[in-house]
Amino acid sequence: MKGIILAGGAGSRLFPLTLVASKQLQPVYDKPMVYYPLTTLIESGIREFCLISTPHDLPRFRQLLGDGASWGLSIEYREQPRPEGIAQAFLIAESFIGNDGVTLVLGDNVFYGGDGFHHAFADFQGGATIFGYHVNDPERYGVVEFDGEGRAISIEEKPKKPKSNYAVPGLYIYDNNIVSIVKALKPSARGELEITAVNVEYLQRGELRVCRLNRGFAWLDAGTSSSLHEASAYVQTIEKRQGIKIGCPEEAAFRSGFLSLPQLEALTAKIPNCEYRDYLNALVSETKRLKS
Ligand code: G1P
Repeated sequence: MKGIILAGGAGSRLFPLTLVASKQLQPVYDKPMVYYPLTTLIESGIREFCLISTPHDLPRFRQLLGDGASWGLSIEYREQPRPEGIAQAFLIAESFIGNDGVTLVLGDNVFYGGDGFHHAFADFQGGATIFGYHVNDPERYGVVEFDGEGRAISIEEKPKKPKSNYAVPGLYIYDNNIVSIVKALKPSARGELEITAVNVEYLQRGELRVCRLNRGFAWLDAGTSSSLHEASAYVQTIEKRQGIKIGCPEEAAFRSGFLSLPQLEALTAKIPNCEYRDYLNALVSETKRLKS
């Protein structure tokens, strides 16, 4: 399974924050926003990534994440010259996807809790798997409607009159048919290749699985000033209370077995003296203590 991180868009809703740095580079409490969705995919066992952004912002992401090698990952970069829809990512990344399945995550989605997406990835056998999350304001999102048996029966993009409170978060798991499905898509009225149209196609084929994310799970989107602030406050609250970090790619790569203990130790030593380094040092020490 490969991973695409889509970090495009003008970030106009966050102006003037986004005049210089793109939305997905803004801090969510103590880390750049893109660290969170990246970590979610690493925790799900994905190691090969393609990050897609605007020609203007791509160099910054490259500066931040590099080729991923020091984290035991590989990260490629591709440009999306114009904002022509989330689903366009699969065309841009076609050669990266090759013959594999692929998960797409949006660079401004923050997930936390439980065993996350573990089951969905472990159980994935083909078709598409997306998620449903109960929200107060479904009209801002893709909305999925379920029948009495819990089967998804419709999906609509930002409906004026939502048929349910279940929004579709920005993490989508697809088999290799995704590329041909997107190639056959027509742009919507707003000129975009819609991810919701892709999901509707899988639904019509009878190949869409929609997993409902339960109560203890947090999905935050950080696309407006107030949701950005709320996401930061949430991360700070949990981190302070528990003494664990959310969205720490180094830790996730280590726990997923992509980094050995000596590798984690070596890369931690290169981090300047700060709380982030203290955290990784504590992880190294604790692992050594448990081993001895
Ligand atoms: C996009 C998708 C929408 C999805 C949302 C999740 O909306 O079009 O279906 O629910 O991401 O964050 P956007 O954030 O681009 O408005």
